Amino acid sequence: MKHLLKLLDLTKEEIVEILNLADQLKWENKNNIPHKVLEGKSLGMIFQKSSTRTRVSFEVGMYQLGGQALFLSPRDLQIGRGEPIQDTARVLSRFLDGIMIRTFEQKEVEDLAKYGSIPIINGLTDFCHPCQVLADLMTIREYKGTFDGLKLCFVGDGNNMANSLIVGCLKVGMSVAIACPNNHRPAETVLEFAKEYKDKCLITDDIRLAAKGADVLYTDVWASMGQEGEAELRKKEFKDFQINQELLDVANDGCMVLHCLPAHRGEEITDDVIESHLEIFDEAENRLHAQKAVLVKLLK
Ligand code: CP
Ligand code: NVA
Repeated sequence: MKHLLKLLDLTKEEIVEILNLADQLKWENKNNIPHKVLEGKSLGMIFQKSSTRTRVSFEVGMYQLGGQALFLSPRDLQIGRGEPIQDTARVLSRFLDGIMIRTFEQKEVEDLAKYGSIPIINGLTDFCHPCQVLADLMTIREYKGTFDGLKLCFVGDGNNMANSLIVGCLKVGMSVAIACPNNHRPAETVLEFAKEYKDKCLITDDIRLAAKGADVLYTDVWASMGQEGEAELRKKEFKDFQINQELLDVANDGCMVLHCLPAHRGEEITDDVIESHLEIFDEAENRLHAQKAVLVKLLK
């Protein structure tokens, strides 16, 4: 594994290795056992979109591993003034040991990897969010002890989160159902990948059908970063795609609720469901541990 560009590139074994290392790093962290294995290493973090979790967890993660992280916004970089990604990739590769990038187009992330010579980590694109799903899988295994026989149901937009959840869940052996409006289905490449897994993947606009027998209910905002102009239209299109108590009643007993956050309470999830499913914050914490595992795998 040279980069983390999307989960489609990883084998099941690579995913499980990251999760195992993440568990170990979390245990060491809780027991105050230092693990400064990236001493002297620098991670550049390019953010073309806002972030709370990704930024703070990568920055703190690099610190805990003995390295340093540089926050690079487009306002600081020449990328913001049009310097091509090929040149940025080549130059930053001379200074840094790795780059984490959050941006719009997946192609930009792939191009950084193509023209640069250091590991590239995708910190979210419109297409996918692999770091988030590694933390999600870590949390599911922590709570349920296994992936075998589990079903995850995602409710909402068929974009970055749905795309990565389909790939991640299927690769580790879970089944997955996506409840989304028909005009917001997951990406074609992901649906093509899912075909191999036959009836382990369901895409439907019937939210109750998707949630039936689920062990994990997952949702995300109706309007993602960059779609703020469509927010009012999306409120209408997605009004029935909400995780609430009624939907939880269709799922299995002991069903977990996950949300990548930030959440819009009263839209994709009700306030009472968040407040009674605080595993969402274990999920957020696990961003730190899962990403540290990725950093160790790629930068050490
Ligand atoms: N879930 C997630 O990636 O959060 P941030 O946008 O705050 O980084
Ligand atoms: N779908 C959301 C995820 C945020 C972590 C977005 O792209 O804004």
